[in-house]
Formats: sequence, structure tokens, C-alpha cells
Amino acid sequence: MDRLALNNGVNMPLLGLGTYGLRGRDCERCVLEALELGYRLFDTAQMYGNEREVGHAFRCSGLSRGELFVTTKLYRSRASYAGAKQGIEASLNALQLDFIDLLLIHEPYREAEEMYSALEESYRAGRLRAIGVSNFNVSRYEAFLHACMVIPAVNQVETHIFFQQRALLEVMKKRGTHMQAWSPFAAGKKDFFSNPVLRALGLAYNKTPAQIALRYLIQLGISVIPKSSHRERMRENLDIFDFHLHNEDMLRIRALDGGKTLFGWY
Ligand SMILES: NC(=O)c1ccc[n+]([C@@H]2O[C@H](COP(=O)([O-])OP(=O)(O)OC[C@H]3O[C@@H](n4cnc5c(N)ncnc54)[C@H](OP(=O)(O)O)[C@@H]3O)[C@@H](O)[C@H]2O)c1
Repeated sequence: MDRLALNNGVNMPLLGLGTYGLRGRDCERCVLEALELGYRLFDTAQMYGNEREVGHAFRCSGLSRGELFVTTKLYRSRASYAGAKQGIEASLNALQLDFIDLLLIHEPYREAEEMYSALEESYRAGRLRAIGVSNFNVSRYEAFLHACMVIPAVNQVETHIFFQQRALLEVMKKRGTHMQAWSPFAAGKKDFFSNPVLRALGLAYNKTPAQIALRYLIQLGISVIPKSSHRERMRENLDIFDFHLHNEDMLRIRALDGGKTLFGWY
């Protein structure tokens, strides 16, 4: 699995499994299957209600803690300094882990700055290996930087071929925050997997539309967390590190950017 170094030197896999919508036994099965296939990063959140299952699957896998990378997120019910403090303990407890690899503030809450102070304290105490935010647009991200001591390692945002977030990517690159794409398939919206450009490129490279779409983001320096509950699709989504899209093909995909969210979050 290819990795990147975050702004504090922590290594993070470039691709992981998204777990939104995976619950109970099914979640455990998916995480275990993904681990068998070679996934090492798992994206969960308090809001998803599956931290316990993700942590349980880790323990069942027999893999050492150092091989795994878990991201989780604090939701709005934790939107205060004290709430974030408790939220960190709640996630550690649910995951049954001594530390979390990456903890994000799920959305740009009004109280995000005070929440982040709590994250910074736990980061310094070694309970969080990296900290960051999610769903911050350019203006909210820039305002946030004035208030924080630790530059966010990651901003996880909606990013896919139809909403490529180039302005945000450039701003964050200058400040040292990595962009991670949620819904890298736009959750299948707009007939994603039948897109003619992705299909044509898939034929040319002997890859699937899904693989072309993920590879595009990886080549822009954006990590991805596609979700699938099907083993074969998990395998397919992981198999993107053995080819390279040529520049003219990158430009064809770039032209698909509509510049607008498909989820109405901004
Ligand atoms: N920070 C945030 O606010 C935020 C917001 C949204 C999502 N996220 C994270 O990002 C993750 C990914 O986003 P997402 O789950 O919304 O959507 P996504 O990964 O863009 O797309 C998932 C959909 O694509 C299907 N799929 C997966 N691989 C496929 C393939 N190779 N061929 C055809 N279909 C395929 C899946 O179906 P099957 O499962 O049936 O295979 C599922 O319906 C989430 O799970 C979550 O961890 C974070």
C-alpha cells in the first residue's frame, strides 16, 4: 500500500475503506475482508455508529496495532471544549485502542476552535497521532488557521471528478494540510460508473471506471476512502497502484469538474 507523510511525519496510506453506512456484523465482515485484501486505513466516525465494530474487527484480524491506521471524527454533539475532551475518550473506548491515528472535527462547527484545543492537548499527550478537520471550505479553513497551534494534518472533504476542489487543494498545499477525498465516487451519483470519459479511459488502460476515478485523485496528491461492502469491489478499488494516467488523460478528467457540490454541504 502506497503511503504519504503528513505534515508531522506520520505515514498514512493513500487509500482506505470508507465505512459510512456499514453497521453491526456486516461492518465487521467488511473490515475483516478489507484487511485480508490489504487495506490498512479505515475511516469511521462517531456519527456512523460503528467505531466499536471497526475496533473489534481490528482485534480479530491479529494484525499489530502499528500496521493499522484508523481515522475517526467528532460530531456536533461534542461541539465544545469539554465535549471534545469526552468525545476523544469515547472514541478511544469504543475502538478499544490506546491511540487514534487521525482524529477530525467532522464539520466546521461554530465551536470548532475550542474543540480543536482539546484535540491539540491529546495530540501532545500522544493519544492522537495526527489531528485535523473535515468539510472546511477555503474561508473557514483560513480563518481556522489563525486560531490553531497545530496546523491540521488533513481536511477531509467531498472530492470527486465532478467536484474537484482545486482552489481548496492549492490553498491547503501551501499551508501543509493534506486533502482527503470523501465520496470519491460521488456515492454513485450522476451515473458515476457509466461516465463515458471514465469508461473510455478504462478501456484504454485496461482498468474500470472506478479505478480510473481513484487513480486520478491519487495523481493529484489526494488520498481516497472509497466505501464498498463487496469483496470484489474492495479488491478492484485497491488495485490502482500499478498504472499511471498520462497528462492528456488527466486533462480530460479535469474537464468533468462542474465546480459544485453534489451533496449540498457548502
Ligand atoms: N467527512 C465527511 O463528512 C464524510 C461524508 C461522506 C462520506 N465520508 C467518508 O467517505 C467514505 C466514502 O464515501 P461514500 O460512502 O459516501 O461513497 P463512495 O465511496 O463515493 O461510493 C460508495 C458507493 O459506490 C459503490 N461502489 C464502491 N466501489 C465500487 C466499484 N468498484 N464499482 C461500482 N460501485 C462501487 C458502493 O456500493 P457497494 O457498497 O454496494 O459496493 C457504494 O454504493 C464514506 O464511507 C465515509 O467513510 C465522509
